Amino acid sequence: MAVIVGGIATTHVPAIGKAIAEKKHNDPYWKPFFKGFDYVHYWLARTKPDVAVVFYNDHGLNFFLDKLPTFAVGAAMEYRSEDEGWGIPVSRPIPGDPALSWHLINTLVADEFDVTMCQDMLIDHAVTIPMALIWPGPTSSAKSWPVKIVPIEINTVQHPLPTLARCLKLGRSIGRAIETYEQNLRVVMVGTGGLSHQLDGTRAGFINKEFDKLCLEKIVTEPEALTRYSIHDWVEQSGSQGVEFLNWMAMRGALTGRVSELNRNYHIPISNTAAATVVYDNQKESERKAA
Ligand code: DHB
Ligand code: FE
Repeated sequence: MAVIVGGIATTHVPAIGKAIAEKKHNDPYWKPFFKGFDYVHYWLARTKPDVAVVFYNDHGLNFFLDKLPTFAVGAAMEYRSEDEGWGIPVSRPIPGDPALSWHLINTLVADEFDVTMCQDMLIDHAVTIPMALIWPGPTSSAKSWPVKIVPIEINTVQHPLPTLARCLKLGRSIGRAIETYEQNLRVVMVGTGGLSHQLDGTRAGFINKEFDKLCLEKIVTEPEALTRYSIHDWVEQSGSQGVEFLNWMAMRGALTGRVSELNRNYHIPISNTAAATVVYDNQKESERKAA
């Protein structure tokens, strides 16, 4: 049976791609941010996942405002990125796991999440930047990716957006689906984007440190508490792009065991964004008893 080894969430600011390409990891501006990945790499070397389910939001590369699903699941053999106009290098394609994708889609639809199924799907910086941070190397070199991915796209761009409660439930459905998957796969959940940021309008550059801290606390122990915020409350508290936290909620929902925070790095700002990187453990009841 498949197991969910834990969760990782991190920002996906495009400027990070350029910093990686220019090897700026030890530059004073970037160092405090990249240091947050030392633990991520240590943890991955121990947990060795085979597949990453990546909750993210497209920014206009694959979906545009003319046709925009609320939830879309990739079911492709591989996922390509293209030049998005941010001046970041185009990532090498990342392999998919169509069999797992279809299992997730079947479960989601049975659970009344009528998702868009994508056998062809371009991935943008919201997938490629976190992948390059979490698994450095394969982005531009010939080294192959150590994981396959199932990308799950959530609309954070065109209102009405799904609620926080809906995204938590979407994640829970995914978590249950993984637990009933018969292949012996080790699966890590990844959520990208956030935390507080606003790129446009009179509040451009808005960051809310207090609210981010509250989110980082509550998402571990009491994610339901965050569902009392409406999307409009969220925009007010976290900025118009802070709603990318929906991806974090879905990732958290997919962690079906006892969840604890193993590592947290919070750094302000990276570009216009409050950059947070976290690693969550997902301990199963059976493992706890055995320990
Ligand atoms: C920035 C943040 C984002 O989430 C994004 O998609 C693009 C840019 C930024 O802070 O520059
Ligand atoms: Fe974004």
